[in-house]
Amino acid sequence: MKLIEAANYEEMSQKAAEIIIAQVKEKPDAVLGLATGSTMLGTYKQLVEDHRQNGTSYRNVRTVNLDEYIGLSPDHPNSYRYYMNQHLFSHIDIPLSQTYLPNGVSDDVEAECQRYEQLIENLGGIDLQLLGIGRNGHIGFNEPGTSFSTPTHVVELAPSTRQANARFFPSLEDVPHQAITMGIATILKSRHILLLAAGTAKAPIMAKLFEGTVTIDMPASVLHTHPNVTVIADQEALSLVP
Ligand code: F6R
Repeated sequence: MKLIEAANYEEMSQKAAEIIIAQVKEKPDAVLGLATGSTMLGTYKQLVEDHRQNGTSYRNVRTVNLDEYIGLSPDHPNSYRYYMNQHLFSHIDIPLSQTYLPNGVSDDVEAECQRYEQLIENLGGIDLQLLGIGRNGHIGFNEPGTSFSTPTHVVELAPSTRQANARFFPSLEDVPHQAITMGIATILKSRHILLLAAGTAKAPIMAKLFEGTVTIDMPASVLHTHPNVTVIADQEALSLVP
C-alpha cells in the first residue's frame, strides 16, 4: 500500500485527479471505477477543470460506479446516477452510454447484481478503482462483517451509514435501507485501487487501516492483500496515524 500525504482536501483532490488523468492518457479506453460521496467532489471538480482547460478526452473511457441505492430512480436527486451526471458526466465528453451504475429500480435486484458483475467482466475489468472510506471502514457499501469473497450484491445499510448519509436527504426516514454494491471480490479484481480520505472524521478509521490487521470487521483492511493500492489522505485524516 503506497501512501501519498496531502496537506489538505484541495491537494488530495489535485493528486487524485492527476492519477486519473494519467490513466486516461495512457489508456484512452480505460475502465474507471468511480465512487460518490463528499470525498470525491473535489477530484471530479479538478477533472472537469482539466477537461475544460487542457482538453483531456473521455470519449472512449468506460465507467462503472461502485454502488446505487435501491428504490431511487436515475432522476432522483439523491440517486448516485444523478450525482455522477451532475458532478462529472455532464461536464466532460464521455458518452452517457459508456457510463454504468447498478440499476436501483430493477424489478429483480438479484438478477441485476449478476448482470452488473458480468458487465464489469465484459468490459475487461476495472483499470483504476476510486474508493472513499466509511467511518466504520466500509468500502462501496460493504459494511463490517461482509465476506471478502462477495461479488456484487444487495446490502442492508448499517444504521451508522444511513445516519452519515442523511445529510443529503430531507430526513433520516428518506434514506433508503438497501443498496446494490460491488462486492469486495469485485473491487479486489481492479488492477489499481485509489483510496481517498480527508478530514478529522476519517482519522480514527485511517489509524485503524494503518495498524495493518486484516479483518472482515474492517472492510477496507482487505486492501492490504491487494498488490497495487494507492492511498491519498490529507493531514487531518492522517492525524491519528502514529
Ligand atoms: C460511495 C461509496 C461510499 C463512500 C464512503 C465515504 O459511492 O461507495 O463507500 O465512499 O461512504 O463517503 P464520504 O466521501 O461522503 O465520506
